[in-house]
Amino acid sequence: MGQWKIRKCRTEDLSKVLLLAEEYTSFDAMPTMADIETIYERNIDNFFVAEDDRGKILGFATGYEKKGIPQEVLMSWKAKRVGYVDLMAVDLQHRKQGIGTALLKSVLDEFKAQGIDTVHLDVPSEEQEAIRLYQRLGFKTRAYSMVWQF
Ligand SMILES: CC(C)(COP(=O)(O)OP(=O)(O)OC[C@H]1O[C@@H](n2cnc3c(N)ncnc32)[C@H](O)[C@@H]1OP(=O)(O)O)[C@@H](O)C(=O)NCCC(=O)NCCS
Repeated sequence: MGQWKIRKCRTEDLSKVLLLAEEYTSFDAMPTMADIETIYERNIDNFFVAEDDRGKILGFATGYEKKGIPQEVLMSWKAKRVGYVDLMAVDLQHRKQGIGTALLKSVLDEFKAQGIDTVHLDVPSEEQEAIRLYQRLGFKTRAYSMVWQF
């Protein structure tokens, strides 16, 4: 098992981030390069990558502050400022080493440093590994996203 570290994403990492996003994030969340660039520019401070000792990008995670939530909604959530975990993936060959946990913790630490007190995310129900990771870090289920098809 190789050495890796978490660091902030840089512009030159974005093409590798896109490859990971295309390969591993669910289809309805799958971003284009333009999406990734927009997400990066909006959240330079909260966009992390995991890098091995040879400079290979093994995973990434990013989040942003959700602005414009009505006051009554914030009150019902008992929230002042809300962060959203946007995208996250770890290369299949490098999973189960703690990289996903470390990436998500970095996003949460950054939210905390920014004064965000409540964090949301959406996850497809088939992504059981991700759901376990989120639950292990203390996320609670607040909603179910349901589908009907004829
Ligand atoms: C979700 C995802 C990012 C997790 O990445 P990861 O790097 O494997 O996450 P971790 O290594 O921190 O945790 C995964 C498991 O490995 C275990 N683990 C962590 N470090 C370990 C170590 N050193 N040795 C053995 N096991 C370890 C964890 O306990 C956890 O076990 P569990 O699944 O039984 O609870 C990854 O599975 C992924 O990219 N999935 C597809 C995309 C996706 O679902 N994205 C999020 C929703 S959009």
